[in-house]
Amino acid sequence: MRILITGGSGFIGNHVVRNALLIPGVERVVNLDALTYSGNPENLSDVEDERYRFVHGSINNGDLVSNLIRDEHISVILHLAAESHVDRSINSVQPFIETNVDGTRVLLESVVKSMANDLPIHFVHVSTDEVYGSLEKEDSAFSETTPLNPRNPYAASKAASDMLVQAFINTHNISAIITRCSNNYGPRQYPEKLIPLMTLNALSNNHLPVYGDGMQIRDWIHVEDHANGVLSAMLALYVGKISSGEVFNFGADNEQTNLDIVKEIIVQTGVDESLIQFVQDRPGHDQRYAMNYQKAEQILGWKPEIAWKTGLQETVQWYMNNPEWVESTRQNEF
Ligand SMILES: NC(=O)c1ccc[n+]([C@@H]2O[C@H](COP(=O)([O-])OP(=O)(O)OC[C@H]3O[C@@H](n4cnc5c(N)ncnc54)[C@H](O)[C@@H]3O)[C@@H](O)[C@H]2O)c1
Repeated sequence: MRILITGGSGFIGNHVVRNALLIPGVERVVNLDALTYSGNPENLSDVEDERYRFVHGSINNGDLVSNLIRDEHISVILHLAAESHVDRSINSVQPFIETNVDGTRVLLESVVKSMANDLPIHFVHVSTDEVYGSLEKEDSAFSETTPLNPRNPYAASKAASDMLVQAFINTHNISAIITRCSNNYGPRQYPEKLIPLMTLNALSNNHLPVYGDGMQIRDWIHVEDHANGVLSAMLALYVGKISSGEVFNFGADNEQTNLDIVKEIIVQTGVDESLIQFVQDRPGHDQRYAMNYQKAEQILGWKPEIAWKTGLQETVQWYMNNPEWVESTRQNEF
């Protein structure tokens, strides 16, 4: 197996790169990353494996992607590269369309080109629960057949890319699957996202800005569990255990409100609750996401392994123990 991972220097990508290198039979892992503000070379600086190669470049560069696929004899693409922060998509949609939609289009066309040269290739598209829209408290969790109903520009760009993948499966007969996961937490997440932001603010005794009433609910999953889910789906596609066109949800049955998370971080960092500051809510803020992931359990034999309390404790500790990493993200605003 010779794998091209896009966005491997980002939060989830670096966990996927590390774990891919542990899979027997993996001969090559090429990480194509443009190193935008959220991509950090530090995330993989400890990986010293001769099967690993980093390529600094964009998925939007079709020639680069096609040459990499050909020269590295790539047999699987794991596509994670994206603009990933909802707040940024509210301020400026263009980079989200360019990377998430057009970048995915470039990768899909490269797959078709590779097939035309008789080089079979599998494509795993990493997507999000946000494409399904928002749930009310009493609604049942999203399943793989829930209609797409994106409600912010980030979610719309991911839903558009999911649909492009489905269209390429149907029209060009490519071998591809889509994975959709709930909110991730864990080490090396860029500190614009809730858990690292609150942890680092608490550690410097700064205000903890909570959107609206803080009652928004997400199903939080440890990044290692997500990375292993993506890799088990990849393996199942590679060996023909699942067919092209399948969709898999990943989640952790771990619905938490933003406010409860902030309170837990307060306990773990030992700061005062008065640091909480309720700020104006994000426009169009989705109320609740929850994932039904029975299909992944039944077909892939996957389940989330890391308990929330332990996972969060270890994550907060990781940010405390890694000030150099935090410093390496400081040149960018968040
Ligand atoms: N973080 C979550 O909770 C979550 C949940 C479900 C799905 N996802 C999806 O997982 C993927 C990874 O998310 P993340 O949280 O690691 O994001 P991230 O922002 O931490 O990382 C994104 C990576 O993509 C790279 N990148 C951006 N544009 C690129 C381009 N044009 N070419 C090559 N590389 C480029 C960045 O440099 C960065 O390394 C995304 O597709 C996201 O939609 C994330």
